Amino acid sequence: STPRFLVTMPLPDPAHSILSRAGSVEVWRDDVHPQNLSHAVASGDYSVVLTQLTDLLDVEVLASARLDGISNYAVGFDNIDIAAATARGIMVANTPGVLTAPTADIAMLLILATARRCVEGDSLVRSGSFAGWRPDLLLGHDVAGASLGLIGTGRIAAATGRRAAGFDMEVRHCSARGPRDTVRAGDHAVSLGTRLSFDELIETSDFISVHVPATPSTHHLIDSAALSRMRRNAILVNTARGPVVDEEALVHALRNGQIGGAGLDVYENEPHITPGLAQLRNTVLLPHLGSATIAVRARMAELCAVNAVAMARREVPPHPVNPEAWHV
Ligand code: GLV
Ligand code: GLV
Repeated sequence: STPRFLVTMPLPDPAHSILSRAGSVEVWRDDVHPQNLSHAVASGDYSVVLTQLTDLLDVEVLASARLDGISNYAVGFDNIDIAAATARGIMVANTPGVLTAPTADIAMLLILATARRCVEGDSLVRSGSFAGWRPDLLLGHDVAGASLGLIGTGRIAAATGRRAAGFDMEVRHCSARGPRDTVRAGDHAVSLGTRLSFDELIETSDFISVHVPATPSTHHLIDSAALSRMRRNAILVNTARGPVVDEEALVHALRNGQIGGAGLDVYENEPHITPGLAQLRNTVLLPHLGSATIAVRARMAELCAVNAVAMARREVPPHPVNPEAWHV
């Protein structure tokens, strides 16, 4: 039978042309979304659903799901209970690779913007308060010569390390996943810099940038204990997933001058922002823009659609998350 695709939010070209060549396509608008998702995936009406990171496919939703596949329009897939999908023989695919560079760009941007007080400066000019050059106006911190601790050993961590090296930062990394995690070879390992333990890294880095997925083992990896061990000038950057950082503890640490600042692109309870965070001067806050370039979103759309078409044919897609689901 002809594959039927459900797309929970309109995707950029060429997603829809790829999907409609392979089957029929239903696209939801914002007003339908998201309360009907669990009903839709249980209906048996769709072969593959193309989801957003804001679509929660947890164990309860998946318990009654009748689907061949879930094609997530993201590299992260913490919105999907992978074990529950696998148990039901539902394949999951994601869109890695194409968003590595723009996400690392945002990490670097947050490093520079927090260090050099970019948002405070912009507000000063816009508010009409810029009264001319002064020796003491908005002094920040040097990036050149400072150390950058990468938490994580993946593609985005390595791409951030490459950028930071270009700004003459001293790059080091740790793995959040324990001693069994191995750093990928070649250029990748080089751009991650020296390997430290998690404790050494958070205690000695001027900048700390988070590049691990949200999993039970990384939940609140940066908690009040970790924040209290950081340098007083330390700047925390997170372009990965909000729940890796205890956001209340972060607000507390920033308020009390325990650390120097934070640059965030992701939040613990998106789009809710922990009270106090937005009132602090030493934060730079972006609305989850890591992959948000025109070209990259189009490449993600293509990958997402190609993954979906493969799964609808019960083939292993180009970027499977749980290929074992096919053998269930
Ligand atoms: C965005 O956060 C993604 O996971 O692609
Ligand atoms: C995600 O794509 C990563 O490997 O960092």
